This record gives sequence, structure tokens and C-alpha cells, in this order.
Amino acid sequence: MDSPTHGTCTIAVHAGHGVDPAYGAVAAPIYQTATFAFESAEEGARRFAGEQDGYIYTRYGNPTTKVFEDKIAALEGAEAAQGVASGMSAVSTALLALLKRGDHIVATDSIYAAVHLLLADTLPHLGIECTFVDGTQVERVADAVKPNTRAIYFETPGNPALKLVDIAAVASIARNTGVTTVVDNTFATPINQRPISLGADVVIQSATKYLGGHGDLIGGAVVGSKEFIDKLWHTHIQLGGALSPFNSFLIARGMQTLPLRMAAHNANALRVAEFLEQHAAVERVIYPGLPSHPQHELARRQMSGYGGMVCFELKGGIEAGRALMNSVRLCTLTVSLGDVRTLICHPASMTHAEVPPAEREKAGITDGLVRLSVGVEDADDLIADLDQALDIPGGMGP
Ligand SMILES: Cc1ncc(COP(=O)(O)O)c(C=O)c1O
Repeated sequence: MDSPTHGTCTIAVHAGHGVDPAYGAVAAPIYQTATFAFESAEEGARRFAGEQDGYIYTRYGNPTTKVFEDKIAALEGAEAAQGVASGMSAVSTALLALLKRGDHIVATDSIYAAVHLLLADTLPHLGIECTFVDGTQVERVADAVKPNTRAIYFETPGNPALKLVDIAAVASIARNTGVTTVVDNTFATPINQRPISLGADVVIQSATKYLGGHGDLIGGAVVGSKEFIDKLWHTHIQLGGALSPFNSFLIARGMQTLPLRMAAHNANALRVAEFLEQHAAVERVIYPGLPSHPQHELARRQMSGYGGMVCFELKGGIEAGRALMNSVRLCTLTVSLGDVRTLICHPASMTHAEVPPAEREKAGITDGLVRLSVGVEDADDLIADLDQALDIPGGMGP
């Protein structure tokens, strides 16, 4: 199933596996095994030497994980993918495959907190220097590139404040200077945005979020050219972030409904964002699909849907936000995102608490910012829940 003429829903269902030749199983089998036996010593040697196809050991590769890898590569419009144990494993494996001591990387300031710490703390200890820039200003990205810059890393939309980066513009800066563009496409998913078609080289996915989609696993993927993924595989087997076959099965199963779920996330998030924007207790709403988003034009240009993430600030600041989070009944107060259920969290005290306050401010993470991962429930029910929770004692309601 690799016809370039197939649509996204068909690719999501069929890419990566057909009917299993062994027994005719229609669902992709779970090869829950650490090792794969060789028929002879000679065959084992040939597999290790790369002279004969076949599996060796699940950290090196696994047929169930291959289903996920082929599906995400097809959806992102890429040649290849490597499944890994988590989104962070995808980021660290990709960056360690690309960078060595003495190299420099440019990253935007609106990124997931653990990635920020990897770039600001762990990589400098390895002799790799990072410059953080405001990714909404493409010229700042260009200005930060030095002779030893090897990669430009960004998320768009960025976690959590939904700042956008112009993928095509940054990719062309990188291409002109021989730098690799790495885009974390977790928030958008390949359904809403395809960075490779816009000129990016490498895509990161935290499969924990929308790809799996049901909040029941941790996983990730690095997506790119076959040449890059072959190179990255050596780093991957050394770092060891192998994805479990069972999680691979769950991710690939979830991905079959990814386009359907994303359509529901997109529609619900827009409804919720529009509701919040007109609510008297709300100071501001950040959603790329709203004309009030400062980069709405860019969103229209590079995204085909605006995603399920909505951020907002209440007029009563952090106290009002806290009261809201304690008052919701249908929304679940928790971190993470991309689940079928609606999740609500406070980035400054939760996901991004470890990022220094000055850095948080640059990334647009004010103390009053509330982040919603809008699920696929009925939009009317979500709006009713937020409405009752916003009717906070002390006159915050409409
Ligand atoms: C945009 C983004 N990238 C990467 C990650 C890391 O993913 P994981 O938790 O699967 O390691 C996260 C986690 O929240 C994220 O939001």
C-alpha cells in the first residue's frame, strides 16, 4: 500500500501492513519478542553483516514497530522512520545523530520544557552549544546561524503558547547554509501539517500524543530520508531507546483513525476557542485558527487544520485559572495532550515548571496561561463544562 495517489484516510488505515501472510490475521500481529532465531550460524552472521534481510533483536528492529514506522513515514510524506521509546528519545536520538562536540544548534524558545533542558544543559556538557531565538522572527533564526551550526530545531505550533514558525522560510535558510532542519510536528500531526513537503529535513513525533491518541502509552518517532534514518539507526541502537512491540501495536492501531480524530479535534478546538474568546472572564485566547492569533495568516498558509490545542488567560490571572482547573468536571486536570478526552493544565507550574521564569516569559508562558488539549467529546458538553467552571464565585462569570 504505497500508492502516492491514495488519500490520507486510506494511507492511515493501510500503510505499513496488509493481511499477515502466516495465518491471514487482519490486524497487525504483536511480535512480543526480544530476539529472532537464525536458521544457521551462517545466516546469523549474514544478518549481522547486513548481507541478508531479517530481524535480529528488538532494539535493532521489530516487525510490529515496522508497521508504525511505515505508517508515520507514509503520512509525513517521508522515505523512512525510526520508532523509539518516547518523544524525548526521538529528540535526543536525532540530535545526537546530527551533532558532535564543537557543533552549534539554533533552537526556538517556544519548545517543550524537557527539550529546552536537553539543549540548555545536557548538550552543552557534551560540548554542543545552543542559541535560543524567537522563532516567530525568521530573521532572528538566520542571524543566529554560525559557521559551526549543524541544525535548526523548532516546534510549530510550539508547546505550550502556540507560537508558529514559518517552516518553508526556515528550511530555505537552513538549505542555503547546509544546516539540517528538525521540526517537532507533535502538535499538528501530519494530518494538519507536513513539514517535509515544506522543505524540512527531519520530523519528530511524540507518539504519546495524537498518534496513539488514547493516552495509554509512551512512544516516539524520527522521520526523514532513508539516508538519515539509516545513519540515525546506529545512534539509536547505542542509546537504546527501543519502543516496545506492544506500544508499537497500540500506536499503529490508533493511527488508523488519526485523520478522523484530528478532524474532530480541529472542529472542537475552534468551537471552544470561539466560546472562550467571547467570554467575559477571559482576557485572551491563543488558537492558530482564530483571526486574533498574531500568526493566523501563517497558520492558514502552512496548516490544513489548526489542531486541538487552545491556550487562554483569565482576567483574574493565576488565581482564576487555578479556580477554573479545580472546577472543571468533564475536562481532566493533567499534563500531556492529544488524548481523545479533553485535558487541562497550567504550564507554568506543571509542564514548564523547570524552565527558568525569564525563559518562560520569552516563550510566552505567562503565570496565568491555561492549556487545553481539546478532545473528541461533544463540543457542546465541553463548552457547558467550561462555562460552569468559569462561573467562579467572586463575579468572574459572564
Ligand atoms: C511537543 C512535544 N514534543 C516532545 C514531547 C516529549 O514526548 P514524550 O513525553 O513522549 O517523551 C512532548 C511531551 O509533552 C511534547 O509536547
